[in-house]
Amino acid sequence: MAEFALPKNSQIKPGRTWPAPSGAKKTKRFRIYRYEPESGQNPRMDTFELDLADTGPMVLDALVKIKTEVDSTLTFRRSCREGICGSCSMNIDGGNTLACTRAIEDSPGDVTIYPLPHMSVVKDLIVDLEPIWAQYESIEPWIQTYTPSPEKERLQSPEERRQLDGLYECILCFCCTTSCPSYWWNGNRFLGPAVLLQAYRFLADSRDEATQHRLEGLEDPYRLYRCHTIMNCAQTCPKGLNPAKAIQETKKLIVERKV
Ligand code: SF4
Ligand code: SF4
Ligand code: FES
Repeated sequence: MAEFALPKNSQIKPGRTWPAPSGAKKTKRFRIYRYEPESGQNPRMDTFELDLADTGPMVLDALVKIKTEVDSTLTFRRSCREGICGSCSMNIDGGNTLACTRAIEDSPGDVTIYPLPHMSVVKDLIVDLEPIWAQYESIEPWIQTYTPSPEKERLQSPEERRQLDGLYECILCFCCTTSCPSYWWNGNRFLGPAVLLQAYRFLADSRDEATQHRLEGLEDPYRLYRCHTIMNCAQTCPKGLNPAKAIQETKKLIVERKV
């Protein structure tokens, strides 16, 4: 898992400490970013001490326990707790990952949790993903066809289906996009690794017939070409995907097609 510097966070002041329950057998500290923009207060780092003997094994288990039993105002996204929905992405011990698939025991010391970096914080560990969802919508993430529909369905050969491996597994958690330095600096114009991987997912789909239209939409100095192959995206993806490769494949298609 790649680690990223979070310079602004180093100035965040400690907040409240919630001690471990009396009789705790195996105490672990969780340092968690807290921020409520509407309060007018600066962000702070709260410390929660939990008894691991009475906590599930994953970081998400700890967050749920804190919210349920200690401080119900702690705010974070989660849904499936199986690494499928992409909701619980956050920065844990310096790397972007999913709280539900990250084991507490993978943190030798305190577990330090921030929201995904370089994004506007809505509250605590929730960042505003609206800009990324708008970028996702802009690549028209659905199969487009111009030929008449067959009677039943559009078939793929096993080889055509294999072209989607490494792409269809993306859960849109945006760990990659928020770890990408090019996205940090040009996020308003560069689509970022997650959206570009999704764009290639439809280019690679043998059933899709809008290749030219899609490539013309991507052929732009910023939307596609701000990727400088820094590879943070591939290092941090909790699903083991490689958005940088998808970006390279898209650039190749543009050259081949002379868009
Ligand atoms: S390889 Fe490209 S998309 Fe991935 S982190 Fe680097 S610049 Fe961003
Ligand atoms: S490529 Fe990986 S890190 Fe990026 S959004 Fe998809 S699953 Fe998340
Ligand atoms: S809760 Fe769904 S991916 Fe973590």
